[in-house]
Amino acid sequence: MSMYNKKSVEDIPALGGKRVLVRCDFNVPQKDGVITSDKRIVEALPTIKYLAGKGARVILCSHLGKPHNIFTEGFGLNKKEKKALEALPEAEREAARTEMLEKAKKDGKKFTLRPVAERLAELLGKAVAFAADTVGEDAHAKADALQDGEILLIENVRFNAGEEKNAPEFAKALASLAEIYVNDAFGTAHRAHASTAGVADYLPAYCGYLIGKEIGIMGAALENPVRPFVAILGGAKVADKLNVINNLLTKVDTLIIGGGMAYTFLAAKGYEVGSSLLDSEKIEYCRDMMKKAEEKGVRLLLPVDSVVAATFPDPIDAAIDVETVPSDKIPSDKMGLDIGEKTRALFADAIKSAKTVVWNGPMGVFENPTLAKGTIAVAEALAECDGTTIVGGGDSAAACEQLGFADRITHISTGGGASLEFLEGLVLPGIACLQDK
Ligand code: 3PG
Repeated sequence: MSMYNKKSVEDIPALGGKRVLVRCDFNVPQKDGVITSDKRIVEALPTIKYLAGKGARVILCSHLGKPHNIFTEGFGLNKKEKKALEALPEAEREAARTEMLEKAKKDGKKFTLRPVAERLAELLGKAVAFAADTVGEDAHAKADALQDGEILLIENVRFNAGEEKNAPEFAKALASLAEIYVNDAFGTAHRAHASTAGVADYLPAYCGYLIGKEIGIMGAALENPVRPFVAILGGAKVADKLNVINNLLTKVDTLIIGGGMAYTFLAAKGYEVGSSLLDSEKIEYCRDMMKKAEEKGVRLLLPVDSVVAATFPDPIDAAIDVETVPSDKIPSDKMGLDIGEKTRALFADAIKSAKTVVWNGPMGVFENPTLAKGTIAVAEALAECDGTTIVGGGDSAAACEQLGFADRITHISTGGGASLEFLEGLVLPGIACLQDK
């Protein structure tokens, strides 16, 4: 692909005996320390096997979760505890974070990559050493002890404060573990962090097979799609997808919009959307996008009917009373939570007759069985489409996997945010830093 023409692992001269630092995205979902989807580990295997097979000494690194962010789920705080922390002055909050992080590390459950090393060893059928630090004594001792073809995984790079700041000292320290750098972390390629970008300033940097595959398939779809080319966007907020919509409108034949973000488009058409999710600051933007679609001859499909309820389900999978109404007749006290039956048929028809399909974002609150029908219908239509079908990570990828459609989709990206930025047409820093061919 023209935007990215990077040297790959196959371009590395004389791998035998060389120490290669490989950045993977092992940010896998877990429950109580048990990995619930190993897709990202499985997808990293081709690069790891290739390097080890050529006799390289392979040093893997990754982040896991957001240990810097006290308010994210990994720390398991309830709303009250979060509120109390939020009220603290910054220095005290930082001290509390450090304390919680140290405790989490000691518990050995949260944020540690140890379970990934174990799963990786099972998948490879060979030992994977694990270092309890990133650039400290243990990592160096274990890297020094590696023999040709052996593999080491170092601990979560985000335990080091320099990682997300892309601090040169941390990038240099990582680089000192190896002679060559390979980035294969597509899911994190949109982050300019020390292990995803900074380290390339200090080592010759190459592209792994997974990144090559992701940008090859998605790049071909964007640059030279077999037509008709249909994109489906969903998810809660228009604000998250502004540039994706803008960029896709210059490429697709049909743009389908569902999910929470559709209601801002419906409002832009002058419809009353009741208490549905509405980003009133973006109504003007949606109007511009509808005009752009018309000018470009792009068919823009919005929901013609909606599944509505009086309140958002709480908990999210709670039983809920719903009715289906036309999109221009949403009662003032109801909110749209999924696309209706007519819309499902409309969207499915457009998808099934496409030759290239890109999908990002669910059509409704798919975590709730009553509100999952729209997302299921889209996943099913992709599975039935005989063209190239691409699912851009995150929730829609999880939906395809949970619903059992994954093996009938051409490509399910390992990137959530990264695939969105790719669809925006942005150059990802984790790829830009690699050597050009
Ligand atoms: C992801 O899961 O999308 C990637 O691993 C990036 O994670 P981050 O949003 O914590 O940077």
